[in-house]
Amino acid sequence: MTHLEVDISKLESFIDDQAWSAMQAEVDESHRQLVSRSGKGNDFLGWVDLPVQLEASLLARIQADAEKIRHMAELFVVIGIGGSYLGSKAVIEALGNEFEDLEGGSGHPYIVFAGENLSERYHAHLLELLDKKEYAVAVISKSGTTTEPAIAFRLIRKHIEEKYGKEEARKRIFAITDASRGALKKLADVEGYATYVIPDDVGGRYSVLTPVGLLPIAVAGFDILSLVDGAKKMRDVAMKSADFKLNPCALYAGARNILLRSGKFVEILVAFEPSLLYVIEWWKQLYGESEGKEHQGIFPAGVTFTSDLHSMGQYIQDGMRILFETVISVGEPSSLLVVPGDPENLDGLNFLSGMRLSDVNRQAELGTMLAHVDGGVPNIRLVLPAVSEHYIGHLIYFFEFACALSGYTLGVNPFDQPGVEDYKKNMFALLGKPGFEKETVNLRKRL
Ligand code: PA5
Repeated sequence: MTHLEVDISKLESFIDDQAWSAMQAEVDESHRQLVSRSGKGNDFLGWVDLPVQLEASLLARIQADAEKIRHMAELFVVIGIGGSYLGSKAVIEALGNEFEDLEGGSGHPYIVFAGENLSERYHAHLLELLDKKEYAVAVISKSGTTTEPAIAFRLIRKHIEEKYGKEEARKRIFAITDASRGALKKLADVEGYATYVIPDDVGGRYSVLTPVGLLPIAVAGFDILSLVDGAKKMRDVAMKSADFKLNPCALYAGARNILLRSGKFVEILVAFEPSLLYVIEWWKQLYGESEGKEHQGIFPAGVTFTSDLHSMGQYIQDGMRILFETVISVGEPSSLLVVPGDPENLDGLNFLSGMRLSDVNRQAELGTMLAHVDGGVPNIRLVLPAVSEHYIGHLIYFFEFACALSGYTLGVNPFDQPGVEDYKKNMFALLGKPGFEKETVNLRKRL
């Protein structure tokens, strides 16, 4: 297998041939709109060609900066929220070793995130850590005006300038933002920070293959060329045809829309590798923000098994039948670990002696799939040959392309996020931002 495959064999009892062929026609049209750039939100399609259009000079600059950062810093603080941090966090966690840091590190800076929440506790703890460590910072915001990263950057900028002095601090700050607009761009120009541009036509949640994702991923020591190449390989497949037999993105998008129309309102993305937790979080943003509008869209949820079989397993097996599952099923890990034998056999598990842990995990995956299908939960399997830079790049592009097709098939603009503004307006009014005086009075009365 050279690329990700979508196994729909366990949808047989939920979707009939007629539904598939009717949906094929709809996805054909969505594919046509996407490829011809004639659909909704077509001014935000820059992500489609990123894997083939990223310039070698940009990739080389990112690698050179990553190397520079590696020499100056033990920690790399990535400030951003939503699409400005989830992609890099997903890739770094997927590819990293969970315990490397406790062992003394990988030889690359440890990546920490900030400004993805407003917690005083979190940021106070981070600043305490920064007192003790050498660090550099990436501040990432496409709009350059998002409150959470802007506040975190105020805190960290003050800290870094006090720690290193203004001149040295400037060399340790990298701003990733719009080419010309926004407060961050202005500040970066005034202060002379190194800057990277987020292209105008790439929205936050589709930006992992721009410097937004690539700089932190490179600093963490991963091969960004292979990541981009993996995305390119999936793009080659995705662009050619919308035929469900040839294009896994089209097949996944079609299946989701059929299931939604049959009352499956919640999709649970499942991984049997805990390192994929943030791939799930990234996917939740991608699909939730792209499709959840005009009172429509599948609610994206996520679990990691087998852990969550001991918490959410009961509901999935037996709760309201509004769910379907999409399982990221990965090939064998490279490390080999077998279940040891035990002469006492008190736990009765000697029948597993000598078996690889990954084989035990696989049987858990297959057993769970059959149990959930029998319980009325349709199952889609995304079969990924391995967790590597190449295949994670592949998976990213798969989900992005499928999301666009799925959103068009649903009939929404998958590239805007008007609903995100409402909480911001209320927050600003409650914080007493100038210009919000009337709303401030009205909202405070309601509390
Ligand atoms: O997908 C999106 O566009 C949003 O979720 C943004 O990523 C998020 O709001 C952060 O925005 P910005 O990068 O402008 O600070």
